Amino acid sequence: MDKKFSAKIFIDGGEPEETKEAKKLLGFLDGQTTNPTLIAKNLAASVSSAKLTQDEALGEYKRIAGEISKIIPHGSVSIQVFANGKTESEEMLSQARERTKWIPNASIKFPCNAEGLKAASVACKEMPINITLVFTQSQAAAVYEATLGAKHPVFISPFVGRLDDRGENGMDVVSNMIKMYQSGDKHVEVLTASVRNIAHILYALYLKSNIVTVPFKVFRQWADKNFMLPAENFVYNPGNLKAVPFRKDIMLGKPWQEYDLFHDLTDIGIEKFSADWNSLVQSS
Ligand code: G3P
Repeated sequence: MDKKFSAKIFIDGGEPEETKEAKKLLGFLDGQTTNPTLIAKNLAASVSSAKLTQDEALGEYKRIAGEISKIIPHGSVSIQVFANGKTESEEMLSQARERTKWIPNASIKFPCNAEGLKAASVACKEMPINITLVFTQSQAAAVYEATLGAKHPVFISPFVGRLDDRGENGMDVVSNMIKMYQSGDKHVEVLTASVRNIAHILYALYLKSNIVTVPFKVFRQWADKNFMLPAENFVYNPGNLKAVPFRKDIMLGKPWQEYDLFHDLTDIGIEKFSADWNSLVQSS
């Protein structure tokens, strides 16, 4: 992590050329997040109308992850398991064990539903992990508890932009989980994701989110502003977004299965990742 920044800086994308360019612009890069939508978008350009077999598509994901890994060999590269609403933890775990062998610096992404956390609770003893599609403080408490005793880095990815998109202040969720985690052992790193603008980055840095992952378009806008930092008296302006208040009643300390894991955007996100990936793959 560069001393100038209070967080690790990642790029969010599926295109190695962007990784190269972002690294050149900033002078370093701490990591990259990918997901099935971003990889499918990259591949859609080259695959044209002919669909790939599941193995071919997976091979392409592996190739892309490998290229990114070579560009940032000391960074972390998030690779996601493929899940729909019905995928069981055993299946996710077996995908994770396979994907972690693709590159030496993989962090495996699991969705924040019950099966995903069940798989993550085992995987965190074996490999770095990243829990994705997080939208609530309650989910953050569950992630913390499910990964207690982890032997590798654990990231949690609150998707701020997707809450903003529907009129709720996504950055509040980042702030709330950082506040709640203050009473914990700090084993979970908050990775601000689904970033839409520079204000998101500045507030994430101000809040001391451990990591922020930035899509290339916003990365370039930030580069145009010389990678500006938040002022000491920085105030985030949420505009008309509805506040998401801190919940004092949601505290760390219970078994993870007892927290409410439901958020409709988690379920919608899982289905969308799955649909985007399947749009590329022949149905068997
Ligand atoms: O890192 C998460 C990100 O890829 C999701 O972003 O823009 O699809 O909400 P977005």
